[in-house]
Amino acid sequence: MKTKTLNNQKTMPMLGLGTWLSDAGEVYKIVKSAIKDGYRHIDCAACYGNEKEVGQALEELFNEGVVKREELFITSKLWSDSHEKKNVLPALKKTLSDLKLDYLDLYLIHWPVVFKEDVSFPAEGSDYLALTEVPTIETYTEMENAVTAGLIKSIGVANFSQKKLQELIGMAKIKPAVNQVELHPFLQQTALVEFCKEQDITLTGYSPLGSSGRPEGMLAENEPSLLENKLIVELANKYDKSPAQILLNWNMNRGVIVIPKTVTPKRAIQNFESQNFELENSDMEKIAELDKHFRYVNGGFFTGEGSPYTIANLWDE
Ligand SMILES: NC(=O)c1ccc[n+]([C@@H]2O[C@H](COP(=O)([O-])OP(=O)(O)OC[C@H]3O[C@@H](n4cnc5c(N)ncnc54)[C@H](OP(=O)(O)O)[C@@H]3O)[C@@H](O)[C@H]2O)c1
Repeated sequence: MKTKTLNNQKTMPMLGLGTWLSDAGEVYKIVKSAIKDGYRHIDCAACYGNEKEVGQALEELFNEGVVKREELFITSKLWSDSHEKKNVLPALKKTLSDLKLDYLDLYLIHWPVVFKEDVSFPAEGSDYLALTEVPTIETYTEMENAVTAGLIKSIGVANFSQKKLQELIGMAKIKPAVNQVELHPFLQQTALVEFCKEQDITLTGYSPLGSSGRPEGMLAENEPSLLENKLIVELANKYDKSPAQILLNWNMNRGVIVIPKTVTPKRAIQNFESQNFELENSDMEKIAELDKHFRYVNGGFFTGEGSPYTIANLWDE
């Protein structure tokens, strides 16, 4: 299993299991089978609404002696309704209780977007708070305190632009260990990848397969398919691998951690086995030409009328 050393010397497996949109009943089964098949890293979040089920699976795996807690790397994320100072620790404790864990390996600010407390998803502009009202450092300082209290090993962010990361680094006592952002051949974000490398901040790439299972309302018209892309399929044939394995290997080859989601045990094994080969440099160069700065998850759902967030100020581009 490939691993990466974070800037605090902790070790993170380079391939984990994503759990967004893994339904009740399914996530329990896939966490159990994936860990039995070798996975040691699970990517969770409070807003996925399934942490209790993940916790049930983990508890059983520990009790069955399949794996020990210290062998696993469990990530969760703070949802946007809990950014205010008084809400951070309670949200973390709820996640720990749902996951039935004493500590998290990694806790991330899920989005640089704030809602009023008790708003699980904004229906109108007045449900939001601006980042000037609840600055990221207020939230992050509470996460730093939770590291000191032993509730989290590493902290970081998700969906942060280079600009937002730079501002946070200037104020933080503990440098973010990870930034989790969308990364795949159609959204290569080379400048952000270089910046994070210079700063020794590890990138995790989400939606590495193109997030094809999102509900209809979240799909853009005529979305390009990564798994059916001509070059990716050609390379899959050349290496005798699947398109998914090519896509995952490409990210890991750039030093990016991947968290493909599946509820299908065969696919989970296939995705895990993407670690067992190397793409040639000339093929990495061919894939580099596929970049089209296309986001499957563009954050547009935070930019309704009256919201202080826009696509432009979300991504700083
Ligand atoms: N921080 C954030 O804001 C953020 C945003 C998005 C995602 N994430 C994280 O990143 C994870 C992955 O991203 P994602 O869920 O958006 O999308 P993804 O991993 O790119 O794609 C998941 C889809 O691909 C299918 N799939 C999985 N393995 C496959 C294979 N080998 N061959 C063909 N199809 C395959 C899955 O189907 P089945 O499940 O039916 O097998 C599912 O429909 C999430 O689950 C979540 O943990 C984080």
